[in-house]
Amino acid sequence: MSEFLSDENFQKFRNVIYDASGIHFSSANRSILESRLKERLKISKLDTIEEYHRLILSSAEEMKVLLDSVTTNLTRFFRNNAHVATFDNYVIPELVRLKRERGDKSVRVWSAGCSTGEEAYTIAMSLKEKLPADFQIIVTASDLSLKSLMVGTEGFYPESRIAGVPEYYLKKYFEQRGSGYQVREEIRSLVKFDYHNLKNDSRQRNLDVIFCRNVLIYFDEAAQKNVVERFWDALAPYSFLFIGHSESLFGMNTRFEFLKTDWACIYRKKT
Ligand SMILES: C[S@@+](CC[C@H](N)C(=O)[O-])C[C@H]1O[C@@H](n2cnc3c(N)ncnc32)[C@H](O)[C@@H]1O
Repeated sequence: MSEFLSDENFQKFRNVIYDASGIHFSSANRSILESRLKERLKISKLDTIEEYHRLILSSAEEMKVLLDSVTTNLTRFFRNNAHVATFDNYVIPELVRLKRERGDKSVRVWSAGCSTGEEAYTIAMSLKEKLPADFQIIVTASDLSLKSLMVGTEGFYPESRIAGVPEYYLKKYFEQRGSGYQVREEIRSLVKFDYHNLKNDSRQRNLDVIFCRNVLIYFDEAAQKNVVERFWDALAPYSFLFIGHSESLFGMNTRFEFLKTDWACIYRKKT
């Protein structure tokens, strides 16, 4: 047992984090929580874990910083080829067909748990390439990690983070600046970054697609179900949901329909 984080304190902190965000710390991840708490204590210039516990209960700001510090923000451009192909070759053509029938020329997509923005910019580039030029593109990108949102808003990525971007997209939608690449304004202006904790209702409605990939994995089943129910409310009557390829709604008893395309399996809201 760790001297720094007793069983009792581990329980207290994991409850507080779970209640605030849905993020569930299993015993296997205890050492990650412990190292983040050590860091926060040092930065906050506090001597004991009890003092830090009192601080997060009294300071919404410190609570946000703690949540930011315990998140995993790993992401990349064009993550998961099968998802990109499903979006490009199935979802976008379906939406165009449907929107034409309805006389609507806008497509609204949410990247929920967007981390540093690579997913949202990938979505925006795909839409720019595949939608008819007279369609309006609206991409919302949200996360509870303020540090990540700052990177996304800036849209500047070091060369190492650009690895997955196909040459065609790199030339067309990025500008090389020093040791990195800046997403061009043409794409940056399509994405709106916002702080949002998935514990709460985003108040977005009538969305055509939600991407929430590699986020649910950090929640327990009850928290996952709450988030997925809220996605249902945020989506338009005929719309699509992408979750991570290692995540599943199987056994969750949701209203989403499983949809197998030629490229990947996603979910559909069909009412
Ligand atoms: C591993 S990243 C996934 C990024 C991107 N969706 C992808 O698949 O590449 C997970 C993100 O979910 C965010 N996250 C975790 N819990 C959240 C919550 N309750 N509300 C909003 N974002 C959350 C984290 O901050 C992190 O940036």
